[in-house]
Amino acid sequence: MLSRKCVMSASRGFWVKPLGHLVVLSSLCCFISGYSERNRTEDLMSKYPVIDGHNDLALQLRILHNNRLSQVDLHNISKVATDINRLQAGHVQAQMFAVYVLCGAQEKDAVRLTLEQIDVVIRMCTEYKDFELVTSAEELRDSERRHKIACLISVEGGHSIDSSLPTLRMFYQLGVRSMTLTHSCNTPWAESSSKLYHVYQRHNNSLTHFGKAVVEEMNRLGMLVDLSHTSWDTAWAALRHSRAPVIFSHSSSFSICNHGRNVPDLLLLDLKKKHGLIMVNFHSNFISCSDVANISRVADHFDHIKKVIGAESIGIGGDFEGAVRFPQGLEDVSKYPALIQELLHRNWTENELANVLRNNFLRVFEEVERVRDHLSMKRPSEVQIPLEEVHNPCRLVLRPPRPRGPSIRSVSSTAQHKTKGPLIPVMALLISSLVFIA
Ligand SMILES: *[C@@H]1O[C@H](CO)[C@@H](O)[C@H](O)[C@H]1NC(C)=O
Ligand SMILES: *[C@@H]1O[C@H](CO)[C@@H](O)[C@H](O)[C@H]1NC(C)=O
Ligand SMILES: *[C@@H]1O[C@H](CO)[C@@H](O)[C@H](O)[C@H]1NC(C)=O
Ligand SMILES: *[C@@H]1O[C@H](CO)[C@@H](O)[C@H](O)[C@H]1NC(C)=O
Ligand SMILES: [Zn+2]
Repeated sequence: MLSRKCVMSASRGFWVKPLGHLVVLSSLCCFISGYSERNRTEDLMSKYPVIDGHNDLALQLRILHNNRLSQVDLHNISKVATDINRLQAGHVQAQMFAVYVLCGAQEKDAVRLTLEQIDVVIRMCTEYKDFELVTSAEELRDSERRHKIACLISVEGGHSIDSSLPTLRMFYQLGVRSMTLTHSCNTPWAESSSKLYHVYQRHNNSLTHFGKAVVEEMNRLGMLVDLSHTSWDTAWAALRHSRAPVIFSHSSSFSICNHGRNVPDLLLLDLKKKHGLIMVNFHSNFISCSDVANISRVADHFDHIKKVIGAESIGIGGDFEGAVRFPQGLEDVSKYPALIQELLHRNWTENELANVLRNNFLRVFEEVERVRDHLSMKRPSEVQIPLEEVHNPCRLVLRPPRPRGPSIRSVSSTAQHKTKGPLIPVMALLISSLVFIA
C-alpha cells in the first residue's frame, strides 16, 4: 500500500525543477519497496489491456502457409511477431486483424482473395478458444470480462469491394467492421497516398461521387471508415463527408517523420473536430524515417500528437506482420508494455494511458454504432459506379436481355432505354457476356 502511494505521488506531473531531487528520492523509495515503474505498467495494462488497430497476421498465414491453419499452432508461431502467447504477454486484449489482398488483384480476383482472408481470420478466431470474434463494442467489452482476445475484422484497401456496395454489405454480414478506403493503389473512387501503382490516376477528384456513397454506406452499416493509406485529399474529403468519427488505424505523425503514410498536424486538427482517432504505427520507417528506430522516438510521436490534439484522440496500431522493421525493444506483440512504461516515464497520466490503450477506440466504435442507429431508417444504397469508371477486360457487364417475344419486348425496351447512356462505351465488351445472362 505504502509503496503504491509513493509511486503515485512521484508520477504526478507538477514537480517543478527545484523539487527534482524529491522525485529522485521518491523513485528511490519505490525502488526499495519493490514497486517499480514496471509493476505500475503491468498493473495499468492489466486494468486497461490494449486494443490494437492493425495486424497483418492473416497475410503472413497466406504467405507462409497458404492459409493452411492446420500447419501452425497459433500459440507459438515462428517467423512472425504475433501469436497467442505473445499477445497475452503484451496485454493485448483486442486486435483488428486486417484482411488484405495485394493491389495486383484489383480488377482480377480481389473479392475472392478477400473472402479467403476473412475465412482464415474467422477460422483463427473460432478454432482457438483464447480468441473470440467480435462485431460490436459491447461484445468487445464482454470479451475482456471473459479474458478472451477479441478479433475484429478490417478490410485493408477499398479495391477489395470491386466498386460494389452490395459486396461491401456482404463483407459486413461476414463480420467486417472497418475498411481502409485504399491501400497502395488508387481505387476508381478514392486516392492512395502511394504512387506505387499507376492506376486510376486523377488530379482533383480524390473521393468521387461513388466514393462518397461508399462512406455513406459504411456510416449506415456501422463500419469504421479507416483513412490510413489514403492520400491527404481523400482523407479530407472523407472527414468532411462522414457522419461518424473516422480513424487512422496505423499511421504516425508527419511532423515527427515526414513520410506520406503519416498524418500532418492540420489533418489531425480536423480529425479531432470529428472526434476521430489516430492509432500510432510502429514501423521504423514511419517512426524515424529510417530503417532503425527506438522506443523513445515512438514516444515522441505520442507526445507530439498529444500536444496537437490531446490524448483522447490517440490509439495504438502497431502494424505487426504488415511492416517489416520495428524499433529496438518493440519487435513483437509482447513488447507493448515497454512503450507504456516509456510514456509513464514521460508523465502521461494513468487516465490518458487508459484512453490510449482502449477507451478511445471503444468511444469511437460506439459513436459509429450510434450513427448507424440514427440511420436505421435509411435503405441500403443502390448507387452504382458508372461503367465508364470501372470498365476493364475482367469485368463481366450485365445488361437486360434482348427482346424475344412481344410480351417481353415492352419491358426490356424501357430498361434498355434507361441504361443506354453509360452502356455505349462498353458495347464491344458485351457481345461475349450476353451468353451468361439467360
Ligand atoms: C513487482 O514485480 C515483481 C516482478 O514482476 C514482483 O516480484 C513484485 O512482487 C512486484 N512488486 C509489487 C510491490 O507489486
Ligand atoms: C515456441 O516454439 C519454439 C520452437 O518452434 C520453442 O523453441 C519455444 O520454446 C516455444 N515457446 C513457447 C513459449 O512455447
Ligand atoms: C477538377 O478537374 C476538372 C477537369 O480535370 C475541372 O474541370 C474542374 O474544374 C476541377 N475542379 C477543381 C475543384 O479543381
Ligand atoms: C533514439 O533515436 C533517435 C533518432 O531517431 C536518437 O536521436 C536518440 O538518441 C535515440 N535514443 C536512445 C535512447 O537511444
Ligand atoms: Zn497498411
